[in-house]
Amino acid sequence: MNLRETLKINEKGHLEIGGMDTVDIAEKFGTPLYVFDEDYIRKMMRVYKNTIEKEYDGNGQVLYASKAFSCEAIYAIAKQEGIGVDVVSGGELYTALKAGFPLKKAYMHGNNKLLRELDFALDNGIGSIVVDSFREADIIEELAGNKGIKQNVLIRINPGVEAHTHAFIQTARTDSKFGFSVSDGSAEELIAYILKKKNIVLKGYHCHIGSQIFEKRSFELAAEKVMDFSAYIKKKLGFEVSELNMGGGFGVWYNEEDPKLKSADYENYLKALIKTIKEKADEHGLKLPYLLIEPGRSIVGEAGITLYTVGAIKEIKGVKKYVAVDGGMFDNPRYALYQSKYSVLLANRAKEPCTEKVTVAGKCCESGDLIAVDVSLPEAKEGDVMAVLTTGAYNYSMASNYNRNFIPAAVLVKDGKADYIIKPQTYEDIVRNDLIPESLKK
Ligand code: LLP
Repeated sequence: MNLRETLKINEKGHLEIGGMDTVDIAEKFGTPLYVFDEDYIRKMMRVYKNTIEKEYDGNGQVLYASKAFSCEAIYAIAKQEGIGVDVVSGGELYTALKAGFPLKKAYMHGNNKLLRELDFALDNGIGSIVVDSFREADIIEELAGNKGIKQNVLIRINPGVEAHTHAFIQTARTDSKFGFSVSDGSAEELIAYILKKKNIVLKGYHCHIGSQIFEKRSFELAAEKVMDFSAYIKKKLGFEVSELNMGGGFGVWYNEEDPKLKSADYENYLKALIKTIKEKADEHGLKLPYLLIEPGRSIVGEAGITLYTVGAIKEIKGVKKYVAVDGGMFDNPRYALYQSKYSVLLANRAKEPCTEKVTVAGKCCESGDLIAVDVSLPEAKEGDVMAVLTTGAYNYSMASNYNRNFIPAAVLVKDGKADYIIKPQTYEDIVRNDLIPESLKK
């Protein structure tokens, strides 16, 4: 298997991450367990930060899209690396705050931000809010007025580029619950509306064209459209953007069907974006905007793996072999939701040849609770440690206590040392918020 640089197979034939034997990690911390490589996370944050530094004179900021993996430690790393974050709920905002993250460097997203979330964000000095409805603009105007502040905002626009992993489509009108279309006049309407507000300072536009994208042209096309739109609005309404947030979406390697990108490839995505913005600014006589990008998956995705222990094995003769693990859709719902394909290996027997195709099943009471279908492995036995790769993004953040299973703990590995960043749940956690009304106690 084509392992990335922080994973290797050691002389015992065990998988290593961040210089630590995963079999030792599993023994020490138990399974299922999320394991994150700190160096990889930092490296990816720096790749984007340094590219903005070098190619755009530092006139911008990386915002880690914390929906990909949110916990206090990740905001602490982002703070140390000097980057910003994107948050999408009061919960993410609170986690950042609790980790001591400077909220001036936080941008808040959401198509239906709640009044209490906006109130909380303004009270805690959120850097900017990405407005996604007229109603939201009204709420911010009133809240900011009551608090005697002026709130910076961007508005979310749809440039009519929708990107999928290996392709993109251009649509005149984007059917999406997010943003306002540049082509049907609705984005323009919202801009005009916000420009009349007294307590809101419109800084510019945000767009996000999709996730798990490999096609460089998608990013260029989005930048072209947004810059053309900026020029149009400047002419029409006299408003010129000072900030442009181009979202996230850079793809990662999950399995052999995906390209295996290196730091230079991620740099190239950003360079292409920057080049387009510079060319378009030139063409339209616009000032170069402060540039924001919001990578999530590409920062934490490949940094993470999940360790499981193999349990029940069931062979349905002539049909399929199921290898069940001690996790499942409650720690990784991505197969159940998107039929995502993962790379799987036996961490304690990583050098052995693969001799069979199996389906890795979870332990939930649901047939669709699968982690990987038709993956090649050596003949798995009860007690083997299984590693699923590239689980750092959208696994923990989408985990649940379905079937009242524990959401696994997470450890951060660096220089051959692992520390908890999310501690294990207990049965007490499972019932923490449960109440039995008096009437049911009789
Ligand atoms: N900015 C905005 C406004 C977004 O909506 C997203 C992701 C990002 C940034 C970060 O995109 P990334 O760099 O991570 O691709 N649960 C799905 C992914 C949903 C992505 C939602 N938005 C999954 O597991 O694949």
